[in-house]
Order: sequence, then structure tokens, then C-alpha cells
Amino acid sequence: MTGQYQVIDVSEWPVASIEPRGEEAKTWLEEPDSGQDPRRWLFKPITTHDWGDQGEDWSEKISSEVGRLLGVPCAQVELASHHGERGLISLDLAPRPLQLFTGMLLMPAVVSGYQVGADRVNGRPGHSLSNIRLALTGCAPPPVSDLPSGFYAFDVFVGYLLLDALIANRDRHDENWAILRPADPTQPDMLCGAYDHGSSLGYNLRDAAREQKLREGQVEHWVKRGTAWRFEHTTPPGPVTLVGLAAEGLRMAGPATRGYWLDRLQGIDTNVLVNVVSSVPGMSDPARTFAMEVLRLNRERLLNEC
Ligand SMILES: Nc1ncnc2c1ncn2[C@@H]1O[C@H](COP(=O)(O)OP(=O)(O)O)[C@@H](O)[C@H]1O
Ligand SMILES: [Mg+2]
Repeated sequence: MTGQYQVIDVSEWPVASIEPRGEEAKTWLEEPDSGQDPRRWLFKPITTHDWGDQGEDWSEKISSEVGRLLGVPCAQVELASHHGERGLISLDLAPRPLQLFTGMLLMPAVVSGYQVGADRVNGRPGHSLSNIRLALTGCAPPPVSDLPSGFYAFDVFVGYLLLDALIANRDRHDENWAILRPADPTQPDMLCGAYDHGSSLGYNLRDAAREQKLREGQVEHWVKRGTAWRFEHTTPPGPVTLVGLAAEGLRMAGPATRGYWLDRLQGIDTNVLVNVVSSVPGMSDPARTFAMEVLRLNRERLLNEC
């Protein structure tokens, strides 16, 4: 029997500021009684349709827990409710005086004429792993992380690719990774911990579609269609799979980094992943079973293909 994750009512938390980046403006809230310099959390509401609700809250919560198990530095996420609106809160990875700069702002330094992801140019020219590695040259790992001492930022970034492939997150565009800049200019920039994992685990499928894929044994086909379309590719053949991109990143990072991440993945028993999903309150049965199956299949694919 596993304990259930709490849903935190943040209705009365004071608003600290508005976050203009991302799909829609969101609110930074201050956690009450969290000290003189209060902890800030980004409240992200789920998307609702006339047919029902998407599951960005549980997908982002599960992803942060899976990231933690994998040892990937990522934002702490909690399920939340704001004046009755369902959502999640994501703990600030860039507390003062750190400043966050997204990949979109860094890539032009290494790719002349870089076209940002928001321009939605086909084939995402420039947003390749080799250019990201260049952009992260000299950059240290995230501030609070329990990683091997020889790791550079890119060694950690490939951990994000492994996590993305495990959770079926196709959304690692150039505003969904970042660096942190310390106030002291003599200190190196650091990779920012991973954030925005809401587009994962089939969060936007309808239950009827999940049920059908489960019934007809089509989940494997679904995960194999998970492509790294946010990264540079040509069509044909089109983008590689998320697992293929993780494999490429692990190869680029070298044997020590590859061995480290694959050992971490191997060390996560499928039952532990099942427990994480079981701990979310209020998920429908098809959403739960589908998410568990995605994690099980992707873990297997990664261990076989990387
Ligand atoms: N935990 C966090 N700590 C610091 N900044 C964050 C965090 N989560 C998100 N952000 C910032 O807010 C922006 C929007 O949030 P994101 O989670 O990416 O939402 P969206 O789904 O709208 O893209 C991100 O691009 C990033 O700059
Ligand atoms: Mg985002």
C-alpha cells in the first residue's frame, strides 16, 4: 500500500509575480511561513476541454518523482488547487540572486542566424545536441545535485534526454531547458534543473483512446511514435525517436556518463514506477494503467537500445 500525494490548496498564497515565459502567463506564488525570503512556486493550471480535462498535473508530478528516482535534477512538483482550479506547483529552480536564461537566449551565441523554437521552423535547424553541447561549454551542473564529481552540464543534460524518453516527453524545446547565472561574475553558469514535464505520459489522450490502445496492445506502437521533433532533423527520414535521441546523447557524452545513467535506470524497478503512479489521487483507471505501461515499455526500450 502506498501513501497518496497531497493536493495543496494554494488559494491563499500571496502572488509574487507573473511568469511571462511559456505557453500562457502563469503565477508565481509565495509559500506561507517559509522564511524571510519565501520559497516561490509556479502555479500551472491544467487545460480543460469540452470533452474533459488534460492531466498536466499528474504527468508533471509523476515525472518529477521519476526524475528524482533517476537522479536527474528537476523541480520539485506538488499537486495543487487554486480557487478550485486543478493544477500543480513547481518549486523555483532559480531563487534570488540566480538568474535563469533559457536555451533560446543561449543558442544564438553558437549558431549564427539561429531561429528560435517559437518560430516553429520545420526541422528545428540549429537545435541539435552538438550545438547544445557547445552552448553549455564551461557550464557547471545544477546547484543542488547528487551527481558524479566529474560531470559537466552536458553530462547532466543527457540525463534530461533519458528522463524525456522514459516519460514520453516530446517537449524539450529551447525554452524548456536553461542555465542559471550567479550574481558573482567570477562564478560559472550552471545548468538549470529540469522543468516543464507536463507533456508526458499521454496526458492529453482521452480515456476511451487509452482504453482502446491498452485493449488492442497498441501502447508499444504509441511509444515508438514518440519522436524528438523539437531537435534538429531532416524529413525524410524525420526525427529520431526519443529513445534514439537519448542513445545519441549518451554516446556523445562518453562511456562513463553513459554507464552512470544506464545504471541509474537499471536500478529503478518497474514496481517502484508503478508505486509512483499509484500514489496520485484521482487519476482515472485508464490514465493510470496507460502511464504505468508507458514507463514500463520505455524503460525496457532504453535498456535495450542505449
Ligand atoms: N521550477 C521552475 N523554476 C524556475 N523557472 C521555471 C520553473 N518552471 C518553469 N519556469 C519558467 O517558466 C517558464 C514557463 O514554465 P513552463 O513550465 O515551461 O510552462 P509552459 O508549459 O507554459 O511552457 C519556463 O520556460 C521557465 O522559464
Ligand atoms: Mg515550457
